[in-house]
Amino acid sequence: RAEPLVLGIETSCDETGIGIVRGRTLLSNTIASSMDEHARYGGVVPEVAARAHLEALQPSIEAALAESGVALADLDAVAVTSGPGLAGALMVGVGAAKALSVSLEKPLYAVNHLVGHIAADILDADAPPLEYPTVALLVSGGHTSLLLVRDLTTDVELLGETMDDAAGEAFDKVARLLGLPYPGGPEIDRAAASGDPKAIPFPRGLSRASDMAKHRYDFSFSGLKTAVARWVEQREAAGESIPVADVAASFREAVVDVLVTKALAACRDYDVPRLLLGGGVIANRRLRDVALERAAAEGVTVRIPPLSLCTDNGAMIAALTSELIMSGRAPSTLEFGADSTLPV
Ligand code: KG4
Ligand code: ZN
Repeated sequence: RAEPLVLGIETSCDETGIGIVRGRTLLSNTIASSMDEHARYGGVVPEVAARAHLEALQPSIEAALAESGVALADLDAVAVTSGPGLAGALMVGVGAAKALSVSLEKPLYAVNHLVGHIAADILDADAPPLEYPTVALLVSGGHTSLLLVRDLTTDVELLGETMDDAAGEAFDKVARLLGLPYPGGPEIDRAAASGDPKAIPFPRGLSRASDMAKHRYDFSFSGLKTAVARWVEQREAAGESIPVADVAASFREAVVDVLVTKALAACRDYDVPRLLLGGGVIANRRLRDVALERAAAEGVTVRIPPLSLCTDNGAMIAALTSELIMSGRAPSTLEFGADSTLPV
């Protein structure tokens, strides 16, 4: 069949995502999140996430089938994220996908989560087709990666990634030390609205000339987090009140500045006038605005899929697999496992 009907399973972090696509058409995209269960810990707890996937998978698959009107027997293939991500969480999805594949006697495709994020763009029915090459910046609570995409199915190169915390993780940790709830991204965004982004000159990680020689496309946010913590501690020790809005705005500006500067450096270096954004942190209004403004000044076109496709979801995994099938890729053999550090 020209347009494969694919069910995708995504369980690499705290979202149980089931997506169904036909060719490049999105039929359903159900997402069950265990975020609330992690809130009191201030971050995703791997075992809690894995157990939540186990409970959410079956009802989510049924919901996706009902939403799309698709019967399991009609599927052409089953797709699953095999990495990178939390090992225990990945294993739940991989196990379920293998069981489905064997019982339905349908081919199984194990795919890379980061490449899946790029494939999400294909399901954006309002956008013109993705052109190559493109630079992709993926920012979430679990990853911060810069990639050069020459072809979605055959040539995705990792240019750089975070050496420590992911950008979303930095938002979550800084929110916590400011007394804001989890997840921290939206909270910091809200608090920053009335703050001055230039109030406090927080450090831009891996941005000095000496760092740029070796880590031009890599990121580091743990030093920034520590700088915010120290700044807050010093004010508290002196009995001063904390200007939360200014701290939030200055912190957010430091993160956004580094993300956009490095992404545009890659566009310039590789002479690629296209930048694709993905991951849950793309919800950040300031990040979108700065990226759009600075990219426009450099003649770079920015693509931002709808947010429901930017955060972790199963539809992007199904979309990537649909592309792989249409390009003639053979299915995976059943011996693959979960690989928490799977390379692109
Ligand atoms: O992609 P995502 O939904 O899930 C995973 O990381 O797996 O991303 C969630 C992350 C969290 O760290 C959250 O704090 C961050 O995205 N986030 C934001 C915003 N909304 C969510 N970060 C900054 N600004 C936001 N508005
Ligand atoms: Zn992700």
